Amino acid sequence: MLTSANIQQYRLETPGTAHNIHFNNAGASLMSNGVVLAVKNHLDAETRHGGYEASAMYQQNITDFYPAVARIFGCQPHQIAYTTNATDAYSRALSSIPFESGDSILTTYDDYVSNQLAFLQLRNRCGISIDFADLLPTGGVDPQSIREKIKHKRPKLIAVTHMPTNSGLIQDVQSIGQICRQEDILYLVDGCQTAGQLPIDLQEMGCDFFSATFRKFLRGPRGTGFLYVSDRVLDKNYHPLFIDLHSANWSSNNDYQLAPGARRYELWERPYAMMIGAKVAAEQAGTVGLNHIARRTKKLADALRVGLSRIEKIQVLDRGENLGAIVTLHATGWNGNDFKTELNRRNVNSSIVLTESARFDFAQKNIDWAVRLSPHYYNLEEEVDTVTDIIESFV
Ligand SMILES: Cc1ncc(COP(=O)(O)O)c(C=O)c1O
Repeated sequence: MLTSANIQQYRLETPGTAHNIHFNNAGASLMSNGVVLAVKNHLDAETRHGGYEASAMYQQNITDFYPAVARIFGCQPHQIAYTTNATDAYSRALSSIPFESGDSILTTYDDYVSNQLAFLQLRNRCGISIDFADLLPTGGVDPQSIREKIKHKRPKLIAVTHMPTNSGLIQDVQSIGQICRQEDILYLVDGCQTAGQLPIDLQEMGCDFFSATFRKFLRGPRGTGFLYVSDRVLDKNYHPLFIDLHSANWSSNNDYQLAPGARRYELWERPYAMMIGAKVAAEQAGTVGLNHIARRTKKLADALRVGLSRIEKIQVLDRGENLGAIVTLHATGWNGNDFKTELNRRNVNSSIVLTESARFDFAQKNIDWAVRLSPHYYNLEEEVDTVTDIIESFV
């Protein structure tokens, strides 16, 4: 359990908590002193010695990135590739799948906007089709519908966003993983919002690819992400459409050999200072404990939903049997940007999602914007009350 003494300590190590009520962890969370120091130390070393020289001197710090990530996600270091962000990880995974005309992707109505754009691109370029699994009446994808759809048309890939950008829904990625393994279908999970928020065991999840960023619930620096690649996929020699001298070896005039493990999904040039910061963030998440983080963030988010739903003009939008630390709301008669500005003026950090990022979900909910409030474990119960009172005061 996270005691209030623990939380006070984590807040002291997170200077940003002193300035604002930071309920924008689904955008980018606040970094700890330890993460920032690790980044600064490496930048100092680069300043003093030169970039290549510093990376040679601190090689161990850099290679420790892989086991640090693998440890908190229940996988092996060779299955992790560094990427610049979640979309970069996702695109590399998608581009490594040899799609052919007539193939299909089965996805959900809650998958992330950029993933939907990538599917449309693949449809336009390669002639694949895009199918959507049905929703449960309570919200979220129905795993049974995935089973049915597979019988009707076997997809080449099943792609599911673990938690959307635009609601607190947690999709049942575990059950879908079981189906994918039984049916031997490739499975890509976008874990951008759940990495660092929920305990995740990638072997148990049964996915082939898992993409994530560090800047959100993992509390790492911007410009860092990772891709997990299963051994099944590595054994098939899948690799991204474009590779470089780090992902492969130019073994003869006419040929190349892929680098071992998920390294074939990386490029040579990487921001080592940021990778070291991300490594520290992963270690810190492990020290706090993902089970504790999940319990506390859910508790804060649930309390926020209860408080907000008592305010007459506020609609709390999150649907699904299992909800996490993204709370979305709409206020009748308000423009979303104006609503967010009112929160900013009172030192409350939030973010806004517009229709263009959540077409299917917002059409269902009949709204064109949602304000997103996303607490982390270092937020306080008092902050939940304050934000609820603030909203009630101006809405
Ligand atoms: C569910 C989800 N997937 C993917 C992304 C994209 O992440 P990135 O900006 O790191 O590429 C986001 C960003 O908000 C997201 O919420």
